[in-house]
Amino acid sequence: MAKHVLVIGNWKMYKTAHEAVQYVRALAPLVHGEVFLAVPFTAIHAAAEAARGTKIRIGAQNLHEAAEGAFTGEVSGMMLKEAGASFVLIGHSERRTLFGETDEMVHRKLLRALQDDLIPVLCVGETLEEREAGQTEKVLKRQLKVALKGVVGKLIVAYEPVWAIGTGQSATPEMAAAAHAICRSCLDASTPVLYGGSVKPENVAQLVAHKEIDGVLVGGASLSAQTFAQIAKKVLS
Ligand code: PGA
Repeated sequence: MAKHVLVIGNWKMYKTAHEAVQYVRALAPLVHGEVFLAVPFTAIHAAAEAARGTKIRIGAQNLHEAAEGAFTGEVSGMMLKEAGASFVLIGHSERRTLFGETDEMVHRKLLRALQDDLIPVLCVGETLEEREAGQTEKVLKRQLKVALKGVVGKLIVAYEPVWAIGTGQSATPEMAAAAHAICRSCLDASTPVLYGGSVKPENVAQLVAHKEIDGVLVGGASLSAQTFAQIAKKVLS
């Protein structure tokens, strides 16, 4: 039996609500299995409405760890859920490096997502310096152990080596598979582990051919509905 494979797009800070609706309308007839899109906060509601009755699931790229409160400019899990999100990325490397998210914050956000009935997509990955210093295993295990301490619930993990994100240079399938095996050793068997970092239509098939790789998290190549559909087709067929 073919393994169940997941495809998630991460738009980052691209696309207005209007553009999101156009994209969802273009993508819907091109995909024949479930696909996930992590869109900007302001596009969640419109994208989720446009995705109704299709195989497209809409999610967010971040949430605040508190249920509510005096946190100017932040967005809660409950707000995301009500807007139409069914999942949320947590601990993406851009959040960690550009916005100072620590492993402990990632842990608290994970708990919040589960409490608010959003599927967390926990992102982990080593930097180039860490890889070159032989610390990949140590870093991945630390990120996962701190994030998952005492956590019970369904989640998805994405291994995204920082050096492969947005660089055009993806990890080789063998490197990814080895890192996935490390992640897997900290997770229960039912947790899917996705690969992210310069996934394209040209390299996706070799990546998901590895039994350790349960799907892909796609940044830049998800911005075109046609390119994302090509990736989804290769993964889901
Ligand atoms: P990329 O981004 O596909 O553009 O490398 C992946 C990600 O940041 O999730």
